[in-house]
Amino acid sequence: MPEQKKGTKGTKKKESTAKSPEAKAGKEVPSKKTKAPPELLRGFRDILPKEQAAWDLIRDTARGLAEAYSFDRIDLPLLERSEVFNRTIGAQTDIVEKEMYNFQDPSGRSVSLRPEATASIARAYLNHGMLELPQPVKLWYVGPMFRHDRPQAGRYRQFHQFGFEVLGADEPIVDAQLILILNEFFKELGIDVNIQINSIGTPESRQSYLTELVAYFRPHRSKLGEDDKKRLQKSPLRLLDSKDPAVQELLQGAPQIVDWIDDDSKQHFMRVLEFLDEVEVPYVLNPYLVRGLDYYTRTVFEVWPADDDGTKAQNAFGGGGRYDKLIETLGGERETAACGFAVGMERVARTLLEREHPPEPKNQPDVFFAQLGDAARRVGLGLFEEFRKAGIPVAEAFGKNALKAQLEVANKLNVKLTLILGQKEVLDETVIVRDMDSGAQEIVDMKKIVSIVEKKLQKSEGVEPVRQQAVED
Ligand code: HAM
Repeated sequence: MPEQKKGTKGTKKKESTAKSPEAKAGKEVPSKKTKAPPELLRGFRDILPKEQAAWDLIRDTARGLAEAYSFDRIDLPLLERSEVFNRTIGAQTDIVEKEMYNFQDPSGRSVSLRPEATASIARAYLNHGMLELPQPVKLWYVGPMFRHDRPQAGRYRQFHQFGFEVLGADEPIVDAQLILILNEFFKELGIDVNIQINSIGTPESRQSYLTELVAYFRPHRSKLGEDDKKRLQKSPLRLLDSKDPAVQELLQGAPQIVDWIDDDSKQHFMRVLEFLDEVEVPYVLNPYLVRGLDYYTRTVFEVWPADDDGTKAQNAFGGGGRYDKLIETLGGERETAACGFAVGMERVARTLLEREHPPEPKNQPDVFFAQLGDAARRVGLGLFEEFRKAGIPVAEAFGKNALKAQLEVANKLNVKLTLILGQKEVLDETVIVRDMDSGAQEIVDMKKIVSIVEKKLQKSEGVEPVRQQAVED
């Protein structure tokens, strides 16, 4: 051990009172005296190790469906030029009006943290000449989104979505298959949902409906809250998904959008429903479903928990629809029909974690390695590698010395076998294998340890040991 300098033991270095260059420049410098750790920003959260099994399950299920239905993965940047969203989501929407994280980057450009990914998908489709690829182009993504919304249960400022998009196809079968995939996702996770569906037609056909809707609500203006009064003026369609009971009551007698949309959109919608009937995907026709983004045309849909009747805000697991004009809005040379959906992963994860038996981590080690003494540690390090290469996950507590403490860890981990290596075993080139259920111990040849453990695990499970699988986001 290096010699301790006289008089410094246990004493703290004296803090300098001289200001650092950063402090002099007026920049925020963390105070060394502050004891409390910095708090998370409101609406942001850590996804902790104990939640990861649920998140892995969501990602793996999405990935499995993407592969089965031939969607190619795309990763899009978190930061985009603000115009990507301003031009597509709609100036009057909540997202663009008040929820975007907008700022100027150091070069003075106006940039935004993405509040969703469909607009970026459309930008990427155009940037990379995907118009020239065989159509439709089928893409999927997963990652964080940012909306500076009022945080509450199930609503965060950073949240995660995975989404599937089909670009370059206007056939109703595309809408139906996307809804089927969405339904499959929840079926595979065993989550009961109901799918709400509506058609909002083309922007042109919507115009006459909007005139009608405003005329209907105008005499009732005094019954509307401040937000809904604004909506009546700026984006009357949003009145249809108002959560205000007074508005919901008024809606009972309001004109319905399906009666006003153009014949082609009506036909398209009927075909979507026929396809869904054909594959027995249940849905609820919801004449009030309009969605909160302006780029939608024709089919729109949402997935709600089965017990939700639409009165609970912030409950939808996911949503989507057709956006036939979006690519053109972003500068595409011709109209490129498209359709897609996104699922809010926090809400799905919460449902999985609230279960009596939440998802468990995959490939929990069945073997624990306990070592006694330095020589055992040295040999143990190499042995651990042999197991890893053989695809057998092994837990250890290299940081602990006493056998008792290590066995306690092994018990907590609920492993089937513990391998014990002490001074004697190192000299004899053996390993003690302890069956954790029966407590029986066996001394085996160190050279054969991997294959012996492999056999023992197969016997206890009746199947091959699972190989570790990399799961990346
Ligand atoms: P969205 O309805 O805005 O659609 O979001 C989809 C899902 O993301 C919601 O149903 C919800 O589960 C989740 N979500 C939204 N905001 C939050 C939040 N603040 N906190 C937690 N979860 C949230 C879109 O984003 C469209 N891009 C969907 C789409 C894809 N349309 C066509 N293609």
